[in-house]
Amino acid sequence: MMKTLTTKSASLSRRGFLKNSAATGIGLMFVPAASVFGTPANSSLGLGVIGCGGRGTYDTGIFVQNTETRVTALHDLFDDRLASFKERFDKMGAEKGHSPIQATNIHRGARAYEKLLQSKDVDMVLITSPPYFHPEHLEAAVAAGKHVYLEKPVSSDVAGAQRVIKAGRAARGKLCIHVGFQKRYDTGYKTVIEKIHAGEIGDIVLGQTYYYTNDLDRREKEGLSNLENRLRNWVFDKALSGDIIVEQNIHILDIVNWAMKSHPIKATGTTGRGLRKEVAGVPGEYLCMDHFILTYTYPGDVHISFNSNQFKNKGYRQSGERFFGSLGVADTLQSGPAKIISNKDQGIVTYNGPVNLDQANINKMQAMVASIKSGNFDNQTEQGAETTLTTILGRTAAYSGKEVTWDQMMKSQQNWNLKLNLEGVGNSAVSMK
Ligand SMILES: NC(=O)c1ccc[n+]([C@@H]2O[C@H](COP(=O)([O-])OP(=O)(O)OC[C@H]3O[C@@H](n4cnc5c(N)ncnc54)[C@H](O)[C@@H]3O)[C@@H](O)[C@H]2O)c1
Repeated sequence: MMKTLTTKSASLSRRGFLKNSAATGIGLMFVPAASVFGTPANSSLGLGVIGCGGRGTYDTGIFVQNTETRVTALHDLFDDRLASFKERFDKMGAEKGHSPIQATNIHRGARAYEKLLQSKDVDMVLITSPPYFHPEHLEAAVAAGKHVYLEKPVSSDVAGAQRVIKAGRAARGKLCIHVGFQKRYDTGYKTVIEKIHAGEIGDIVLGQTYYYTNDLDRREKEGLSNLENRLRNWVFDKALSGDIIVEQNIHILDIVNWAMKSHPIKATGTTGRGLRKEVAGVPGEYLCMDHFILTYTYPGDVHISFNSNQFKNKGYRQSGERFFGSLGVADTLQSGPAKIISNKDQGIVTYNGPVNLDQANINKMQAMVASIKSGNFDNQTEQGAETTLTTILGRTAAYSGKEVTWDQMMKSQQNWNLKLNLEGVGNSAVSMK
């Protein structure tokens, strides 16, 4: 049973969050994979991919091109995804002298990830399925003794985040688990946050953060069942994705938690669907919002505003964070630059560095592989869960239109079990190509 944060002081610090969450880290079976611990420091790691879509393709490409990794196994619900993934990575692998992915290591079906996880060819798993499935896939990977790169968010609900914390505790010291917050590996962002923590802008008294982006492409097609359309259009489905604040805007709120060295105490806000009226296959009550407007309160009564949209902003995309301190301002844009401006002498720019998220991804994947090879295993599950819960807090406040505290959210044990019947999904004769 999951524990919650019950005292205000516990809710104020990350240490408190971790300590309380840590109490849940029992009862998960853990079987170390011989293939992992037998991996010589100079040999390549076998990568299994669960969820062979857009981000899976991007992340896998970074691993293969920049680390000693070869793709050995695939899992998805859909043949077209598996086929195009295999074609791309067999080709990329051949350029590196790797063998093609064996047919026996390609798995389709809702629970077929279990077969991938049983394979001795898999040392490390990339989980790039929709967020709703992340807790299930992470738990299984940890139980099978595989290292994991888990894309953000760690879950779409509170109960899922708690499951991830629990699985992370079981893996601590035994497996490496990274969560997909690549901005933490960007030089510009790292430098600004280090300078904030060193006191260069003094105490943060106010923040303004935002994520304005385009509407996303639809993947509906005539002839597909409603469920298949829903799964392919998961980014528009609240339960499968967590909604836009949890699924996409999360990168901004991760920076806020990092800068503040804490999660928020409470949030208030609003949300709506100004332009997004329907998406084929997604039931109306699950259709994602297209904007959020929130105020988070952090320890010390620091207010951080957060605005986002997913509109048809063709030609206009902007996302970033601004922190106003007693001695200066930190201003970071996801597209760069990352700046510190001192209050001294009419506002001197004391740091102005580029942001490069492709390079940040490379840095992160290299750090993960180095961590595995060193045996000194990174474990980012608690930080990933804390940021995911921060977005869930904002979502809960915006949906209800009421102020919601961290403690209330944690006690809610919110659990969005869709009871989906995935048997037979992917048998459609319709090709998405
Ligand atoms: N770190 C980042 O900047 C970043 C960027 C984009 C996406 N992401 C994250 O990556 C994940 C995947 O996003 P995407 O854009 O690749 O989506 P996508 O739809 O392109 O890919 C998801 C894949 O998962 C498959 N899938 C669906 N249900 C499945 C299940 N039950 N088991 C196995 N596979 C299943 C789909 O068929 C699809 O191939 C999400 O968590 C998303 O938030 C992270």
